[in-house]
Amino acid sequence: MKLIKLGGSIITDKKEYRRFNADTVRRLCREIRDSGQDVIIVHGAGSFGHVLAKKYDLNAGNRSREQIPAVAQVCYDVRDLDSMIVKELNESGIPAVSVPPGSCFVMEDRRLIIENDEVLRRFVDLGIMPVMFGDVVLDRKLGFAILSGDQIMERLTDIFDIDQVIFVSDIDGLFDDDPKTNPSARMYGTVDQRTLESVRSDISVDDVTGGVYEKMKAMLRMCSEKRECILVNGNAEGRLLSLLKGEDVICTKATGGII
Ligand code: IPE
Repeated sequence: MKLIKLGGSIITDKKEYRRFNADTVRRLCREIRDSGQDVIIVHGAGSFGHVLAKKYDLNAGNRSREQIPAVAQVCYDVRDLDSMIVKELNESGIPAVSVPPGSCFVMEDRRLIIENDEVLRRFVDLGIMPVMFGDVVLDRKLGFAILSGDQIMERLTDIFDIDQVIFVSDIDGLFDDDPKTNPSARMYGTVDQRTLESVRSDISVDDVTGGVYEKMKAMLRMCSEKRECILVNGNAEGRLLSLLKGEDVICTKATGGII
């Protein structure tokens, strides 16, 4: 089974609050369907989550009454986004159901806890894809906090037998600097722990919460001898489909894991 994250930069316009990229999502759902692969999809929040989360500092946890309406609004907005994605999946012939993490699970000091995975497993056994997404989640220590789709991906690799993890973003791969501001930035074809040690931890790239360094670290944490982890550009038509069919495409592959 493959695990795919549709990043916020590909499913939304990150600069405009609540702008959904319907055409891109529809095309990506069809590419996934046409690949015939067994997949689980997680998605980010993009401008349905980050705009208000940043404005009200929601990742800091419960600090003031003013945050509370914003928590409810972000929960509403990301569920709204999720319904549009689940609709596209079902319409393209992939039976899917929303499993909002903030309504089903809690966190402890920003770490997602899935004590009972029965619902997730039973949906998958039935042939229905449970779709989770970046959300505001109740936190035992902080009151609430932001849960990223990336962290959900990591938990899901513990629950399901995943042989490939794919991050679909709006960049061709991981670069040694931001390619949007530095035209001579070089792309990594593959990364391993040694590459991680040579990367500056302060480079930021859109859709990469925490920058390239954190993304690479998360990718390496999720890969192992039996599982590769790939970053691919979803704006390039047909690239995700080719990748899912096992063809060679422009992308960054993380290999070897973190020791
Ligand atoms: C963020 O999730 C969740 C919220 C801001 C509520 P992600 O970190 O997975 O979202 P993207 O992919 O960066 O948009």
